[in-house]
Amino acid sequence: MHFLESVAELKNADIYIQEKLILNQVDFSIGQGEICYIIGKTGSGKSSFLKTLFAELPLQNGIGKVAGYDLRDLKRNYIPQLRREIGMVFQNFELFEDWTVEKNLGFVLEATGWKEVIKRNSRIDEVLDAVGVVDKRKDLVIHLSGGEQQRVAIARALLNNPKLIIADEPTGNLDPETSDEIFHQLRDLAIRYKTAVLISTHDYRVIDNFPARVYECIDSRLQEQI
Ligand SMILES: Nc1ncnc2c1ncn2[C@@H]1O[C@H](COP(=O)(O)OP(=O)(O)OP(=O)(O)O)[C@@H](O)[C@H]1O
Ligand SMILES: [Mg+2]
Repeated sequence: MHFLESVAELKNADIYIQEKLILNQVDFSIGQGEICYIIGKTGSGKSSFLKTLFAELPLQNGIGKVAGYDLRDLKRNYIPQLRREIGMVFQNFELFEDWTVEKNLGFVLEATGWKEVIKRNSRIDEVLDAVGVVDKRKDLVIHLSGGEQQRVAIARALLNNPKLIIADEPTGNLDPETSDEIFHQLRDLAIRYKTAVLISTHDYRVIDNFPARVYECIDSRLQEQI
């Protein structure tokens, strides 16, 4: 398959947490609309790798480009702009549980410069519709199932039309059937919106069900599986 443009790319990159080398000589790329998996044992560096892409960990050596931003030369005040191009999804959803769904999403829109209420409201409907939970808009997050909460979290990640969705073990807390639904959803978004989707997972069953390119964190390296 050929991809028009790479959305994120690392070349010969070393990833450290403070003095500790986590991954070295990382070569990675993901194209527009592509899905990739990151697998590896606990502690192997999956989350650290993902954090590098959204500039939470600095890139020490090598080249890194994400959504047109150069990770090596990224000024602090460009970090929020870079993160606006990336939708983040986490294992534990990280929603405000005692807020409604719409308040969770509206909060992000306000924080990212959406000034008009009408536009915010219609954007909230659009993203909830995209993940099939528009009927939950007025509900408190705490009243939703885990799968529904993760859909809301994916909807939140979509708010600013990201070029890349990074999902760190997005189905780690979900049963197999719900996991499949979430993977379906992510794949659907990649196809429909040409969003690149990068997913770390321990769930090899899902990789069999939804094949895509796989990278493994192993022995301080990121190896593409062939
Ligand atoms: N804040 C930190 N300070 C020091 N070391 C850390 C820190 N966070 C993670 N590490 C270490 O970095 C290594 C990689 O951790 P990371 O969280 O990237 O692994 P992971 O593959 O995501 O694991 P898991 O599957 O458990 O989520 C581990 O050895 C971990 O102990
Ligand atoms: Mg992790």
